[in-house]
Amino acid sequence: MDKIEILGGVRLSGEVTIGGAKNAALPIMAAALLAPGRSVIHNVPRLEDVSTMLKILSALGARCEFVGPSTLSIDATELTSQAAPYELVRRMRASVLVLGALLGRSGRAVVSLPGGCVIGPRPVDLHLKGLKGLNARISLAHGYIEAEGTELRGAEIDLRGSFGSSVGATINVLLAAVRARGRTVIHNAAREPEVADAAGFLSALGASVSGAGTSRLVVEGVERLRPAEYEIIPDRIEAGTYLVAGALAGGEVALRAARPEHLEAVISVLVSSGVAVERSPGRLTVRGGGGRQAAAVATAPYPAFPTDMAAQILAFLSVVPGTSRVTETVYTDRFMHVPELNRLGARIAREGDSAVVRGVPALSGAPVMASDLRASAALVLAGLVAKGTTLINRVYHLDRGYERMEEKLRGLGARIRRIK
Ligand code: UD1
Repeated sequence: MDKIEILGGVRLSGEVTIGGAKNAALPIMAAALLAPGRSVIHNVPRLEDVSTMLKILSALGARCEFVGPSTLSIDATELTSQAAPYELVRRMRASVLVLGALLGRSGRAVVSLPGGCVIGPRPVDLHLKGLKGLNARISLAHGYIEAEGTELRGAEIDLRGSFGSSVGATINVLLAAVRARGRTVIHNAAREPEVADAAGFLSALGASVSGAGTSRLVVEGVERLRPAEYEIIPDRIEAGTYLVAGALAGGEVALRAARPEHLEAVISVLVSSGVAVERSPGRLTVRGGGGRQAAAVATAPYPAFPTDMAAQILAFLSVVPGTSRVTETVYTDRFMHVPELNRLGARIAREGDSAVVRGVPALSGAPVMASDLRASAALVLAGLVAKGTTLINRVYHLDRGYERMEEKLRGLGARIRRIK
């Protein structure tokens, strides 16, 4: 298994280009199943999760190939199967998005119950509730979700969950609703930019979706959809991660192809703790050297602070003087990185849904273990400022969500290498 070795304490400077959003690419790839014919999608990141989705689409009969460095062609002229197998779905929770797409396309779907990152219970009750609301019949047997929906009907659907809105459930319902008869109104829809991007792609396919980016989505079902060409938005979590890298270890670091407007909550924490961030359209510049002011951060659905940036901001706050707090309200068990950051010399204690951080003057390199995707990124960030060498084990998590991370960081001057 690959490892990453980082020699910390090197100042970062220069420019890094942000890739397409993983969490927009995955639903958009699933959505391509809805339109018979060949869709072309630009700005698709080359990631393990994208490869997994490609394998699932291929297993369903779609013909998929990269026709450029980040341009993906998906030919869904003919689907040969409506079943997404356990071996693929267990690798990635977002596989469950083919459920709504298959229902919309074929009126039938059999999808294994998903796996994904080990960050607490991740149910699919809201997905199923929403699809049932569209008149799909759903049953669970032998670890599979079986859905039949030859007569999908538009409906009023409320997707409020105990932890706020659900990104995946909103998209799954959208994917089926665009082919349902009549009007669907989704209340308490997720407002994440990736949901809006998926809605943008559906509109390009000829669907009628309004309210994208708000908590009320209105869909008028259509008889058929046609293939389209589309460009995916930049990845706000990748951008946020490099922003924190710059804040911790810059120098001056500029992010190209970032959307500052998708990162307000992250920027505001950095700025309030004393980091200089400059924004212009499509570009962000951060001047690092660490923060000076402790902060209290609470994750919540967009536009609040993203749960996918909680681990990285914790790494940042580990070396900010004073006592900071990071509260997790979306995935209340998402703290596996805390003991690993402590191995690097951080002083973080768990208090219920929160991590309480007492800033230390410096971290020190050590061997650590990555437990999930964003936790891995946090360990890389900590390694960049830790004195000496940090060795990160189990980096396959990182490859699920960050494209060429070592190469991009090396481009900024970091001393980082992958050990095969
Ligand atoms: C997506 C993102 C993931 C991010 C998460 C929250 C993708 C591919 N992944 O995941 O990176 O961390 O949003 O921003 O886009 N819930 C239920 N019942 C459900 C569905 C969800 O209770 O049926 C709960 C979850 O357990 C969680 C909360 O709702 O506590 C939010 O989950 P959700 O927005 O659905 O996350 P994902 O779409 O899986």
